[in-house]
Amino acid sequence: MKIVLAPIQSYTHTFYRYAHAKVFNSFDKYYTPFFEENSNNSWKPALLPELNRELNLQAPLVPQIVTNTPEFLIHSVRKFAELGFNEINLNMGCPFPMLLKRKKGAGLIQEPKLVEEILNSFFKQTSITGLSIKMRLGVNNSDEWEKIIPVLNDFPVAEVIVHPRTAKQNYGGVVNWDEFEKLSERCSHPVTGNGDINSRQDYISLQNRFPHISSWMIGRGALADPFLPDSIKGVKYSEDERRELFVKFHEVYLQTVNNSFPVWNHAFNYMRSFWYYPLQKAENGQRLYKKLKKYLIREEYIVWSNEMLI
Ligand SMILES: Cc1cc2nc3c(=O)[nH]c(=O)nc-3n(C[C@H](O)[C@H](O)[C@H](O)COP(=O)(O)O)c2cc1C
Repeated sequence: MKIVLAPIQSYTHTFYRYAHAKVFNSFDKYYTPFFEENSNNSWKPALLPELNRELNLQAPLVPQIVTNTPEFLIHSVRKFAELGFNEINLNMGCPFPMLLKRKKGAGLIQEPKLVEEILNSFFKQTSITGLSIKMRLGVNNSDEWEKIIPVLNDFPVAEVIVHPRTAKQNYGGVVNWDEFEKLSERCSHPVTGNGDINSRQDYISLQNRFPHISSWMIGRGALADPFLPDSIKGVKYSEDERRELFVKFHEVYLQTVNNSFPVWNHAFNYMRSFWYYPLQKAENGQRLYKKLKKYLIREEYIVWSNEMLI
């Protein structure tokens, strides 16, 4: 059984992944938030420090891209290979309207011909077979995947990660595990399940329902509770150990961010994102986050975080 960290733009960046891996080492795989093409086949955001090898040593890392052209996919995979990455993930799930309009992200789900063209060129022109897909059920309806899965089945896709919502649902509403079941039975590639796994119990229920699924992706649940992958795997910590590990996690994260961003204003944005999800769950979390929402100079932040870490 594998537990993998979901890509979450602005949260599961290289500094977060590095600190989590260093302290907990409990994810089996990581995905970068997506890179999108700028004009001239360059990347938005920049590849570095996202793909800095030294910050990504612990577990396999798969770069993700958003595109609707075979050219950019192939260009990217070659560039990633130069940096030592042999797998790439194509985003077919992002619900941003700007992307949908341009037949990108989840927009690709409604374009089986285009997807066929992209995959055809990709597998003809590259020797790298490590291409995985991350997708939703559809844009407006939860059965739109029925037109795409047969296309994916025709190619040696490594894995299909499914977040069983429609793009219209964005990140809320109910996760449709019934439709996931149908999809996973029709898909001839290994399937990873993803969506609203917020506790060990959520995981156990899903694993009992889908014994044929051996890989689960977790995003917001793990950001809110960095112990979640350990807890799913049955690793238990005492209260003291938990406090100690969390302090260490924060310390490594802060240090790593500081090394890359000596200017505090930049570093502070990263500290804000570190606390956003944990404080959503915490008692008085909204009130505590309010202070961070404004701005704290470095010294104020140290006082604030010391209080949090007691
Ligand atoms: C703020 C935010 C940013 C996200 N960025 C990405 C992204 O860059 N690429 C991607 O494939 N999914 C992205 N996702 C979707 C997550 O990877 C995941 O599929 C979704 O949050 C459901 O899983 P969860 O309930 O475990 O968080 C994002 C989600 C959120 C909330």
